[in-house]
Amino acid sequence: MDPLFSSDVIGKLREAVEKAGYTVDGVNAALGPQAAAALGRGDLLPARRATSGGSPLETLINLFVCGGVLSTPAVQAAIEPLRVDQALSVGLLEPARGGLRAAIDLRPYGDDDGDWWVVSDLGTDVRPGPLAADHVLGIGGAALTLASATVRQEVGSALDIGIGCGIQALHLARHSRKITGTDINPRALAMAATTAALNGLHWELLEGDLAEPVTGRRFDLVVSNPPFVIGTGEATHVYRDSGRSADGVVAEMLGAATGLLTDGGWLQLLGNWLHVAGQEWTERVGGWLPERCDAWVVQREVLDPAEYVAMWLRDAGEDATRADRWLDWFAEHDVEGVGFGLVTVRASNVDSPSQVLEDLRQQTDHPLGIQVREFFGRLSAVRGGLLDLHLVADPSVRLTQEAVRGADGWEVEEQLLTGGGLRAAHAVDPLVVALVGGCDGTLSLRDQLTMLAQAHDTDPATLHAAAELVVGPLVRHGLLRPL
Ligand SMILES: C[S@@+](CC[C@H](N)C(=O)[O-])C[C@H]1O[C@@H](n2cnc3c(N)ncnc32)[C@H](O)[C@@H]1O
Repeated sequence: MDPLFSSDVIGKLREAVEKAGYTVDGVNAALGPQAAAALGRGDLLPARRATSGGSPLETLINLFVCGGVLSTPAVQAAIEPLRVDQALSVGLLEPARGGLRAAIDLRPYGDDDGDWWVVSDLGTDVRPGPLAADHVLGIGGAALTLASATVRQEVGSALDIGIGCGIQALHLARHSRKITGTDINPRALAMAATTAALNGLHWELLEGDLAEPVTGRRFDLVVSNPPFVIGTGEATHVYRDSGRSADGVVAEMLGAATGLLTDGGWLQLLGNWLHVAGQEWTERVGGWLPERCDAWVVQREVLDPAEYVAMWLRDAGEDATRADRWLDWFAEHDVEGVGFGLVTVRASNVDSPSQVLEDLRQQTDHPLGIQVREFFGRLSAVRGGLLDLHLVADPSVRLTQEAVRGADGWEVEEQLLTGGGLRAAHAVDPLVVALVGGCDGTLSLRDQLTMLAQAHDTDPATLHAAAELVVGPLVRHGLLRPL
């Protein structure tokens, strides 16, 4: 797939943005903290005011980030050595009353190792009104969530399903020898090719449905922020609608995982799933997980149908015309809510894989990808069972006690949690508190439980049998670590 612009235009554009200092730090410095914060809230005015000075950097920010209309001489000075007539003819800029405005979004983006530039369509913040059916999404919250959650280890091959503007592929380029991206939207592939070229990168870009263009091929890492929005199957916007009804797209992608992954390979995707009356969400999503693969499904948020429909109509700048039909569909299918989360699957190729599905609403240490990798490390470490392990409590483990007044006076509720990592809180009873207090690696868990059973006049077999249920989550969440 060819980029939107010729290599001559891309070379000149790159020269212009570099010369102007149009980088993440450059933009933040030019805006200052208040205008940057306002921009983060979608309030463009402070950023427009902060960038009215006319320097090339201010002009680029005003034009591409704030959707401003600027005079031709100011724009010419900012995009030098590219000429305004070239920028107009290739569709980077367009005429507007009073001057010129951006026709696409071009903005700096970066990680700890440096800056990139990303090309996408303009959002509803700068171009109010309904989005085009083939709109190519820019850097959004979901994309950042997936980027943060991706396991960053050196791999030979990486695949991004639904590559869009190329944000995931930029991150993948830091640690993957070869990157392939698929997308059903040719405009998205052209944007991804432009993002790659602007950053001096090359990706294999294939047009088609989900993983169909790479049938028969395997990858060490597959990531996807797919069009996961749940509805009737009607597809009005390609960036969010898969054309599958209900949560079929996530089910389908998980079904394809084993055929896509190399031994030990990872698949990470964001998704929505239905909460249907009479069915646990864990049962629903658990039924889609591939065999012989470890898996961790983390539900970060649940919205009720009305909130969900309103959010997605707003996202695409649509009016409420479709809301009734959409909500009727939810009601007809007994939908009580919609879960959002991250699914990570590892092709561990084991007979009895560990598949954990849980709510994780709290803020974790960033980046989440480090937590994901450690979580799977702990799954492997306890695969042979817990009882023979010598467990050590993480030094950051804290015990909190809160007393609430009940019918019989004060009732103490105790929680264990870590000071870092996943920060998952576990409600515990005094027996577990005593167990964790004694986890210094000296005794095996079996011996610890036997001693505790004696001290509390309980049958050791009962405690041994409960170990997986009670101690398993503490180990998986990093409160206890095998020595
Ligand atoms: C939510 S956007 C994500 C884009 C980008 N990867 C990111 O993380 O921001 C979903 C992408 O999937 C693409 N897409 C939609 N339906 C698809 C399908 N059936 N097969 C492949 N890609 C699809 C869209 O064109 C869009 O680029």
